[in-house]
Amino acid sequence: MRIDVLTLFPEMFTGVLGTSILKRAAEPIANPADPDDVRGPVVSYHVHDIRRHTTNKHGKVDQPPYGGGPGLVMQCQPVYDAVLAAEAEDPTPARRVLMTPQGTPLTQPIVERLAGEKRLLIIAGHYEGIDERVIEALEPEEVSVGDYVLSGGELPAMVLIDTVVRLLPGVLGDSQSAAHDSFSPGAQRLLDHPHYTRPAEWRGRAAPEVLLSGDHARIAAWRAEQARRRTRERRPDLLDGREST
Ligand code: ADE
Repeated sequence: MRIDVLTLFPEMFTGVLGTSILKRAAEPIANPADPDDVRGPVVSYHVHDIRRHTTNKHGKVDQPPYGGGPGLVMQCQPVYDAVLAAEAEDPTPARRVLMTPQGTPLTQPIVERLAGEKRLLIIAGHYEGIDERVIEALEPEEVSVGDYVLSGGELPAMVLIDTVVRLLPGVLGDSQSAAHDSFSPGAQRLLDHPHYTRPAEWRGRAAPEVLLSGDHARIAAWRAEQARRRTRERRPDLLDGREST
């Protein structure tokens, strides 16, 4: 997958895209058993500075809103030109996504769908907004990361990238570990069950006996029950229409 990001703050992405799983996903994958078997990276990141595309001689990309009101609105021209320039770098058609609090709230099914794309182009805007006409012209999918407001779309873009990239085949070491995450199909889209590791007793608290039993069927049943109970207690909305609470 190719991921293009358009932002006024490209430096914000350096740490996140250059660390841990997101970094590893952009590196070639070597097969320890066969030194000649090196596969290309699963993802490549291309962060573009929208300001480079302004035709304003002072480098401005935003202006006060028509009709008055607080803040500044990003102008059409730099955003539009930055999108077209980024897209022209590669012939693969891009699914355009605009991060905005007015978008569809991001959920795991949306992440799964976007993880099936060959290319994402993510626009991170000012929270006050982007001139509506460039949104109409570019027709991006508008996505929100929740009902709260951030200072810009950069952190939401990073949230989207992280959620998508960890689903790409080969990114997580254990191919099962994403399938059973909370909200995933393997977890029946419920919350995850609680987890325990050594020691068996810590400060007088014992790990549940069943998990030390070695009885895989009992363990699976216990985990399924715990996941349901947690979901019922903490997120009953996830069970709506699925069981009586
Ligand atoms: N930009 C500012 N707030 C946002 C949010 N909640 N989701 C996506 N983009 C945003």
